[in-house]
Amino acid sequence: RASGLSFVEAVEKLAAEANLEIPQSTPAERELAKRQASLHEVVETAAVFFERQLRLPAGREALDYLRRRGLDDNAITRYRLGYAPAGNALKAALGGQGGIPIESLVAAGLVGTPDDGRAPYDTFRDRVMFPIGDHRGRLIAFGGRVMGDKGPKYLNSPDTPLFQKGEVLYGLAQARAAVYEKGTIVVVEGYMDVIALAQAGLANAVAPLGTALTESQIEALWRLAPEPILCFDGDAAGQRAARRAAERALPLLKAGLSLRFAVLPPGCDPDELVRTQGARAMADIFDGAESLFEVVWRHALDGRSLDTPERRAALTQDIETTVSRIADTTVQYHYRRFLRDRLWQLFNPPRQPRGSRQAGRSAAVALVNLRPGAKRLEDEYAQRVIVAFVLKYPGLLVQHVEEITAMVGGTGPFARLVESATEFLSGEPEMPSEILLAHLNTPFAPELGQMQSQFEALALKRVPDPEAEFQEIMDKIHAQAISLELKSLHRSMVNNATEEEMRSYLAQRNALVRETKDGGE
Ligand code: UTP
Ligand code: MN
Repeated sequence: RASGLSFVEAVEKLAAEANLEIPQSTPAERELAKRQASLHEVVETAAVFFERQLRLPAGREALDYLRRRGLDDNAITRYRLGYAPAGNALKAALGGQGGIPIESLVAAGLVGTPDDGRAPYDTFRDRVMFPIGDHRGRLIAFGGRVMGDKGPKYLNSPDTPLFQKGEVLYGLAQARAAVYEKGTIVVVEGYMDVIALAQAGLANAVAPLGTALTESQIEALWRLAPEPILCFDGDAAGQRAARRAAERALPLLKAGLSLRFAVLPPGCDPDELVRTQGARAMADIFDGAESLFEVVWRHALDGRSLDTPERRAALTQDIETTVSRIADTTVQYHYRRFLRDRLWQLFNPPRQPRGSRQAGRSAAVALVNLRPGAKRLEDEYAQRVIVAFVLKYPGLLVQHVEEITAMVGGTGPFARLVESATEFLSGEPEMPSEILLAHLNTPFAPELGQMQSQFEALALKRVPDPEAEFQEIMDKIHAQAISLELKSLHRSMVNNATEEEMRSYLAQRNALVRETKDGGE
């Protein structure tokens, strides 16, 4: 702007000098750009006014409020928090003689004009102010919070030429550096969540403005990171919101672009969690976020029973309907393949082995497999332990091939290795471990590398009875899986089940507990 030209004017001047045609903006577009530029200035001026008020005696209560909520000066400055005094302080201070024209304050959403012809009044009165910026950090609107409990908790600026709330993510400009550094962006629900997380060192968080994520917000997130993490409350409402977000994302998916889902303890928002449990606990929840695929799968199974052919057919059909909503053909293809694998595992649980101990375990496995999100059996650590063990004692792989195959899953990290090993062994169940490992070594170097510490432990261990040891490991894995699954099943039952479902669940559960006990003796 050294020459005093606006950007558009500068481009036009250069183009004229170079004899280039440039697309002419319409007069309406120019008018809008000019109005926006002046409105930016109005909002910026208001933000400075609110910031100053926070530091004056009038803002004392507001400042105390923010401090009480745990915010330090750094956070207050970084997010440019302020205070809108009671009455019409803003209009009086900024709209006076020679100040900002009242129409501009109205256009910026800072002053409202009642229909009944009474004088215009300040939109925000006696509220803590959260300025809202666009993706470049230019201010476009405000959210204002009451300190007591009268009136709506938060009031946002009305839509203006600068501000459409479905287009904006709160805190985006402040988050950008941390997003690039961490490679991921987190979406939380509220202004306070964003600020509290940033203060705790988790500065890559943004929030929509009190509404569900829109398509355009999802696209904006993908411009910054391939797999944004959406954060939801663990309560029923939060889980419904997660489900809607997953459904909304399906048509938008592209190769490499997805969402992940983090679930908070019920009734606890990130602001509270990070203050009471610390940044590490919060970061762990983000790190543990589930993939969109897992969420889709879990939702597909949620609350179904699959004990008749028709019910299974309905599941298959519903899954197909869901998949067909994915617009991108490549992503759709891979979703379909993954889901087919999952269905196959679900409908082909491990064959019922002989013996009461095994029968008990098998029933448990079947029940656990029927559970949505029964991912403990596919737990990678458990897989490493068991796969390393059977590679050391290849006879076990031959003996228990179905159980092991089911456990490593059709798409799990060790699925191909197990398949390949089984094939190689088929002629010779007595083959020594060294020969099998030498055969697998080249194609599966990364997988074997992942099992390094298991192999080392096995090299030191005396195993007089591999079969018994194998059973013991499997029992442990299953017991852990079952107890985790029962816990989560119980939780979802308590929250969602009808009385009849609850009764049938309890009957199943008790039978299972009895069986595992009997079998274990
Ligand atoms: P929350 O009530 O979860 O907000 O609403 P919060 O940030 O946790 O609030 P406090 O200060 O800790 O109590 C989430 C978001 O929904 C919008 C705001 O954007 C808020 O940050 N909201 C909420 C409104 O627009 N109006 C409301 O009355 C309430
Ligand atoms: Mn809150």
